[in-house]
Amino acid sequence: MKGLAAANLKMNLTGQQTLSLVKNYIKLIKKTKQDVVVCPSYTALPLVAPVIKKSRLQLGAQDVFYEQKGAFTGEISTDMLKELGCRFSIVGHSERRNYLKETDELVNLKVKWALKAGITPILCIGEDAYSRDGGESFSFVEKQLKACIAGVEKKNIHKVALAYEPIWALSTTANRRDITSREITQMHNYIRKILKDVYDVMAAAQVRILYGGSVNEQNISEILKAENVDGVLVGAASLDARKFARIVAAFDARK
Ligand code: 13P
Repeated sequence: MKGLAAANLKMNLTGQQTLSLVKNYIKLIKKTKQDVVVCPSYTALPLVAPVIKKSRLQLGAQDVFYEQKGAFTGEISTDMLKELGCRFSIVGHSERRNYLKETDELVNLKVKWALKAGITPILCIGEDAYSRDGGESFSFVEKQLKACIAGVEKKNIHKVALAYEPIWALSTTANRRDITSREITQMHNYIRKILKDVYDVMAAAQVRILYGGSVNEQNISEILKAENVDGVLVGAASLDARKFARIVAAFDARK
């Protein structure tokens, strides 16, 4: 299975700033064999799209709505994203769950809609410090994952990329903590087992499970020692092209 390195630029850069970052990505990731995706702000998508056409880089959005058109002020449809060449979209990011109160039910609608439209959802799941400290991280993630993939058929589950992003390990979380590769292994193995229980071994094996939470050029080799890490979703470090390129290179160097 090819690795998937995705950059979530969040709400950090203007279109022009995104463009110069992306041009540097392209130079630095020329030889990669992985899938590399950049998810900029909506306003940057039409600027970035033509520039990445002949490169290894693919385009993703940071969110998507679950209806095709109509009275949904401020939302964006799969057709609008596809017109710009977006093949991926993050859904259910913890920041949207937190600030915009997105629920598992809403995220589930987005996952199913994206799949129907041929967009790969990068579905984010992960517990906060409260659940982790209460010993409930596994039950929390299980409930969240099952709710978010409810109704996704076995034949389609391989089209979903899952991103385990424990909120307590994100670079922007106050009093954040480092995660160990053992903790990543435990959760990623558990996620694979949930998929096996819901679907079967074959289907579960085809789903890419990404890790996200303060991934950077220094900790990537440790993270890659964990089991069942098929990719990464990178926030802060993706704002620096050299750092992001080194993360991508670590996947290429992996045996
Ligand atoms: P950081 O890499 O900054 O912790 O962000 C992770 C993230 O939220 C990616 O979606």
